[in-house]
Amino acid sequence: MKIFGIPIFPEQASTFAKDVDALYFFIFAVSAFFALAVAVSVIYFGIRYHKTHDGEIGARIEGNLSLELLWSVIPTVIAMVMFGWGASVFYHLRRPPAEAMHIYAVGKQWMWKFQHLEGQREINELHIPAGQPVKVTISSEDVLHSLFFPAFRTKIDAIPGRYTELWFEAQTPGSYHIFCTEYCGTNHSGMIGTVTVLEPAQYQVWLQGGGVEGTLAQRGAKLFNDLTCSTCHLDSGQGRGPSLKNIVGKTVELQNGSLVMVDEAYLRESILNSQAKIVKGFQPMMPTFQGLVSEENLVALIEHVKSLSPDATTAAPATGAPSAAVSTQKPAAAEKK
Ligand code: CUA
Repeated sequence: MKIFGIPIFPEQASTFAKDVDALYFFIFAVSAFFALAVAVSVIYFGIRYHKTHDGEIGARIEGNLSLELLWSVIPTVIAMVMFGWGASVFYHLRRPPAEAMHIYAVGKQWMWKFQHLEGQREINELHIPAGQPVKVTISSEDVLHSLFFPAFRTKIDAIPGRYTELWFEAQTPGSYHIFCTEYCGTNHSGMIGTVTVLEPAQYQVWLQGGGVEGTLAQRGAKLFNDLTCSTCHLDSGQGRGPSLKNIVGKTVELQNGSLVMVDEAYLRESILNSQAKIVKGFQPMMPTFQGLVSEENLVALIEHVKSLSPDATTAAPATGAPSAAVSTQKPAAAEKK
């Protein structure tokens, strides 16, 4: 967007960019109107009612009910419009459509790493198709970062130790900025990149190019063997660890009787902090992989486990806090006692 020929705003390159901008300009216009109204009134009243001679005493005013009602009701209505409108835009921004394609991002001092399910890995570059919703699951290898796509009007923090996510649907092919918008150390300002939006056919061509060693899930399967996870997590369920077949999206019972939904956050926690939530009937014998598995390998492992649950169309969304998925409800069987 240009004002007097000067570019003020980034391009509106996603489906909800217009909605975000409309809300922004509405709030801006209301704020500007009242700021101006107050400033003009202060000046006008200052001149109109200034003290003209010594000993002058102002009129005593006891109150004015209709005026007070007016300046309570009107701002309340305006604030509620902002709230309702803002909530609806926010709700849309925070809920990826189920059919969205999935990409993983890792923030690291000072770069953004992206991994495609098909196996492609990129640094400070991201290739996506136009006209298709894209969900990005984000983690951080070290400190707080924030992944920002200005042209798509969306961003979210990369938080060490948990997954966050955002989504967008890019509309117009082209190249757009990627920024880090959370101060993360010396080269924070250099933690930038480019997102390239391609026509879907071009994107397919791009996916074919570049020597890729298998999909993300296949890389995870190799890690699963290399880290000897496969010696305990037998598909038969007879291993020392639970079988990982068809568990994603399901609810499992833990040792203490609470229930947990198997999603990305729970899988992540179970790899890094294996003693935290042990499935009922199993011993706490799994070693911790904290510090041994990078964030990138972690998502590969998670994708491998997800590939063992082919019926779970989408894993439950990353909910934020690692423990957010835990239900405090006791299972029905326990309640009957
Ligand atoms: Cu990463 Cu600022």
